[in-house]
Amino acid sequence: MKFPYMQMFCLIFIFFPTVISAADVFPGSTLYASNPQNSWDSPNGTFSLSFIQEAENIYFAAIIYNGIPVWKAGGDPRSAVNSSAALRFLADGNLQLVYTSTGFVVWQSNTAGRGVSRGTLDNSGNFILSNGSGPVWTTFDNPTDTILPGQNFTVDQVLRSGLYSFHLLRSGNMTLRWNDTIVYYSSTGINGSLANSSLTSPSLGLQQPVGIFSLFDPTLSNPLIMARSSDYGEVTDDSIRFVKLESDGNLRTYSSARNSGSGNKIVRWTAISDQCQVFGYCGNMGICSYDDDFNPVCGCPSENFDPIDPKDPRKGCKRKVEIADCSARAMLSLNHSTLLTYPPETSSQVHSASITACKSLCLSDNLCLGSTSLADGTGVCYLKLSEFISGYQSPTLTSTSYVKSKT
Ligand SMILES: *[C@@H]1O[C@H](CO)[C@@H](O)[C@H](O)[C@H]1NC(C)=O
Ligand SMILES: *[C@@H]1O[C@H](CO)[C@@H](O)[C@H](O)[C@H]1NC(C)=O
Ligand SMILES: *[C@@H]1O[C@H](CO)[C@@H](O)[C@H](O)[C@H]1NC(C)=O
Ligand SMILES: *[C@@H]1O[C@H](CO)[C@@H](O)[C@H](O)[C@H]1NC(C)=O
Ligand SMILES: *[C@@H]1O[C@H](CO)[C@@H](O)[C@H](O)[C@H]1NC(C)=O
Ligand SMILES: *[C@@H]1O[C@H](CO)[C@@H](O)[C@H](O)[C@H]1NC(C)=O
Ligand SMILES: *[C@@H]1O[C@H](CO)[C@@H](O)[C@H](O)[C@H]1NC(C)=O
Ligand SMILES: *[C@@H]1O[C@H](CO)[C@@H](O)[C@H](O)[C@H]1NC(C)=O
Ligand SMILES: *[C@@H]1O[C@H](CO)[C@@H](O)[C@H](O)[C@H]1NC(C)=O
Repeated sequence: MKFPYMQMFCLIFIFFPTVISAADVFPGSTLYASNPQNSWDSPNGTFSLSFIQEAENIYFAAIIYNGIPVWKAGGDPRSAVNSSAALRFLADGNLQLVYTSTGFVVWQSNTAGRGVSRGTLDNSGNFILSNGSGPVWTTFDNPTDTILPGQNFTVDQVLRSGLYSFHLLRSGNMTLRWNDTIVYYSSTGINGSLANSSLTSPSLGLQQPVGIFSLFDPTLSNPLIMARSSDYGEVTDDSIRFVKLESDGNLRTYSSARNSGSGNKIVRWTAISDQCQVFGYCGNMGICSYDDDFNPVCGCPSENFDPIDPKDPRKGCKRKVEIADCSARAMLSLNHSTLLTYPPETSSQVHSASITACKSLCLSDNLCLGSTSLADGTGVCYLKLSEFISGYQSPTLTSTSYVKSKT
């Protein structure tokens, strides 16, 4: 019995001073990217607000759990900064991400002149700016790409990662969008049809420890289940769960144990199991397929196209010769492929046409850049009139697509 007692004694002895020093932060405090060791910590040290380096001379001011950013000042990639940036809690109550060299403001909380007198990172990972009468601004109300347990995600909020965004509609429908317009995923959860009644103020929350992503509303006696984590109900003491919109356009729930090593997280649910169905994953004119290890890979339609950035296949492809410049145009055929079509694109671009007609319809239409003949028994042909084309090739697809090209 003596040894455990000693251990506990040591823990208290070591951590007690930290609890005291990790108190609130006050106007006048600053964090510097050049010194990422400096941080504003939650009382029990689970979360910290500090700079995190993600690549050479690329930093974010972020709230971090176990080496994982769960909130980024200004969002990603918009507010990536270099080592001469600082996060300043100004005397007027504003929190600013600035370049110290030029004074350029990258992002700010816009809380000047509201009597803000302290900042607190609580044990649930919420950073709160408050004045004498209470909270004025919180990171939970201004999320970037992550929802933590205890965070209330409402219809007025949005998660963003690059061109991708996640929204909750008043109907209780949750959607993923590309460039704010193309809805490539929507779900009302596993008891979804119930949500079409008249919800008054729906919100999403991740229930910890059980691991259920739920829809709450005053009109519902029980929350609706949007998604269960694969390990739902399996309580693991030191794990934290979170929902994250990743830069690949997919929404996932994760669990991450504090002692599992920095950055370590386990996927517990993925909104779109087929990554190639994520609109724009391979960029414009990029074709998504899977390699032998089931990883999504991005390629170009043919040798008539070049990758925009050979180092990053996800950036998409461009024609070696622009269509306008080529005297002889032709349709390049891509077997077992589809050009992804999601609302609102489809409205006037659906035709009934045979496979040959599907090809020639597009060839003769100046605005058409590609077409897909479904060949699934419906006789449907999609014409792509939009500037942006996102392709998917797989042996399991019966459809054939055509891309306008030079002969
Ligand atoms: C960081 O970027 C700012 C603004 O672009 C620039 O003024 C500064 O020189 C850069 N510093 C470093 C270390 O790259
Ligand atoms: C404190 O914040 C609240 C909410 O933003 C605001 O209504 C109030 O006026 C603020 N108090 C002062 C002293 O600025
Ligand atoms: C820190 O506080 C949170 C919230 O109260 C709790 O869930 C977590 O277990 C605590 N972590 C530690 C290491 O005490
Ligand atoms: C979430 O926030 C909204 C708006 O502030 C509120 O109406 C709702 O009751 C909250 N939901 C939960 C589950 O706390
Ligand atoms: C959810 O939203 C999508 C996209 O707006 C829509 O197509 C779908 O019909 C909606 N589902 C329900 C049940 O409202
Ligand atoms: C996103 O939409 C805006 C306007 O809605 C448009 O100007 C822009 O070109 C679009 N981005 C891409 C990559 O297509
Ligand atoms: C949602 O479905 C689950 C089981 O699939 C059920 O236990 C729960 O009661 C349902 N919620 C409502 C509000 O009906
Ligand atoms: C929700 O809408 C669907 C289809 O519109 C309908 O079948 C279902 O009965 C509705 N559910 C409720 C609870 O109103
Ligand atoms: C596409 O399929 C057709 C018919 O099965 C075949 O003749 C043609 O060679 C295929 N093209 C390519 C590029 O694989």
